[in-house]
Amino acid sequence: MNGTPDASLKPYGKRRPAAARFNTEAIPLPQNGFQERLFFLAAFLSRPGRIGAIGPSSQALTAEMLQGCHLDKMENVVELGPGTGALTGAILAQIGPRTRFLAVELDEGCVSHLNRKFPRLSIVHDSAENLQSLLKQRGIQHLDCIISGLPWASMPDSIQRPTFEAVMKSLRPGGTFRTFAYVHASWFPTANRFRRLLEKHFASVGKSRVVWKNLPPAFVYQCVR
Ligand SMILES: C[S@@+](CC[C@H](N)C(=O)[O-])C[C@H]1O[C@@H](n2cnc3c(N)ncnc32)[C@H](O)[C@@H]1O
Repeated sequence: MNGTPDASLKPYGKRRPAAARFNTEAIPLPQNGFQERLFFLAAFLSRPGRIGAIGPSSQALTAEMLQGCHLDKMENVVELGPGTGALTGAILAQIGPRTRFLAVELDEGCVSHLNRKFPRLSIVHDSAENLQSLLKQRGIQHLDCIISGLPWASMPDSIQRPTFEAVMKSLRPGGTFRTFAYVHASWFPTANRFRRLLEKHFASVGKSRVVWKNLPPAFVYQCVR
């Protein structure tokens, strides 16, 4: 990021008037798991559409997301929407010594937290919509795997489509795409629209079991391009 204001970095929809009360920039960066959950909740209350969840993913959902990904064998891996890093830590533990790993996060408060939590990791403060240019800047042609924590079901069509297009254009044929969806929201029109996009564009789309040990319960889309 070069500090220039960019329309793609604005929150989805209007900022709520109560935002100042829950402004994550005004509260200290979390030091432990409990503070991290409070931080996440505050971010959600101030920017519900963009954050899309009341809390970070559980260990059970994280394990389901990465199940069978074989990250240790991959050259280029990207995480979209790492939030407070629930999946990031597990990804870092599984990648190989030669894997190049990049995390792209839109929320400034989360980026500050991630930079402190993972000081050696390259966190990009930008929108997933700009994935192709972010890869180009770094001389990366194609990705082997994209792990997404993006709130697809709360994205307006004008953001969901170009972001999905950036994912498809960045992933190599045969590449892996993982993302989770909340059970209660899977009948929302935006969630249905997203499922149709997956089924239309990926060579295969699998669905995991429901992970009940997550708030709220969720399942994982396991897609291969
Ligand atoms: C549902 S949270 C998931 C956080 C984390 N991956 C987890 O599982 O706990 C969604 C995250 O995506 C980020 N996000 C939303 N839209 C984004 C975009 N267009 N580009 C990058 N990150 C985005 C939000 O700021 C938030 O951190």
